[in-house]
Amino acid sequence: MTGMNSKFRMLQRKIDSILDSILDDREIMRREQSLRSKDDTCGREDILDVLLRLRETNELGLNLTTRKIKGIIMDLFVAGSITTSTLIEWAMSELIRNPKVMAKAQAEVRAVLKEKGCLEESELNKLKYLLSIIKESFRLHPPVPLIPREATEEREINGYKVPASSRILTNVMAIGRDPHHWTDPEKFKPERFLESTMDFIGTNFELLPFGSGRRACPGIALANANIEVTLASLLYHFDWKLPNGEAMEKLDMTEAFAGTVTRMNSLNVIAIPYIPTVAA
Ligand code: HEM
Repeated sequence: MTGMNSKFRMLQRKIDSILDSILDDREIMRREQSLRSKDDTCGREDILDVLLRLRETNELGLNLTTRKIKGIIMDLFVAGSITTSTLIEWAMSELIRNPKVMAKAQAEVRAVLKEKGCLEESELNKLKYLLSIIKESFRLHPPVPLIPREATEEREINGYKVPASSRILTNVMAIGRDPHHWTDPEKFKPERFLESTMDFIGTNFELLPFGSGRRACPGIALANANIEVTLASLLYHFDWKLPNGEAMEKLDMTEAFAGTVTRMNSLNVIAIPYIPTVAA
C-alpha cells in the first residue's frame, strides 16, 4: 500500500549495480597488476583485494561468492563506518575539552611511536592510556545507545511483568552514566580503566557499547583497530586548538539523538602539525 517494498527493491538494484561496477573495476586492476609483476600488490591490498583473493583461492575455506562479498561490503558501510567515526569524533572532543588528558595521551603516543610516526598492528596493545581513553569515550558516548531485543518468554524483572514478545530496549548510554556503577559518572576520567580489567567485549554489563550475547557486534576487533590507529595518528602528528582562541573547556558537547548519537554540531578544530625532533 505504501509502495515501500518496490522502493526498497529499486534501491537494492541501484546499490547492487554500484557494487558490481566497483568489483568489476577492481578485478580489471588486479588482472593488470598481476600481468606487470606478481609481487606488485604485496603489502598494498585493501579489504576488497583480500576478499577477491579469498574468493579466487578459497584459502580459508570460506566459499566466498560475489553475493557474499557485496554483503560484507554493505555491512562495512552500514554498520561499521558512522559508528566508528562517531566514536573517534567524541573521543577527540573529550580530549580537546580535557587538555591534561590530551597532553598525557600525546606524550604516550609520541614516546611509543618515536620518529616512525605510525602504529604497527603488533603495537596495538602498547598504548595503555589511549586504550583507557577509548573505553572512557565508549562509556560516555556509546555510538549506538539503545540495543533492541525481543522477550522470548514472559519474565518478571524487578517487580515488572515483561510479557512474551515485548520489544525491550537496553539503554547502554544510561548504564554507562549510572552513579550506582561509576564514581563521578559525568566526568571524563580515563584513569578509571588503567588498573581495571573491565573491557567492552560484552562480559562487563556496565560497559556495553558493542552489545552482548550471540547478536553482539561482530566488528569489535576491526572497529577497535581502526579507532586506535586513527586516534594515535591524530595525536602523534598534530597538536590541537579551537578556532578564535576559544577556551578548550567550553567546547560544545550537545548530542543529536537518533539510531546513532552524534555531535549536534560538527567538531571544528585547528590542527597544528607536529614535527618530531630527531636526535643527532
Ligand atoms: C565503534 C564502532 C561500532 C559500534 C559502537 C558498534 C555497535 C554495535 C551494536 C551495539 C550492535 C548491536 C549488538 C547487540 O544487539 O547486542 C552491533 C551490531 C552489528 N555490528 Fe557493530 N558496531 C561498530 C562497528 C562495526 C563494524 C566495524 C562492523 C563491520 C565490519 C560492524 C558490524 C555489525 C553487524 C553486522 C551487526 C549485527 C550483528 C547481528 O545482528 O547479529 N559493527 N554493532
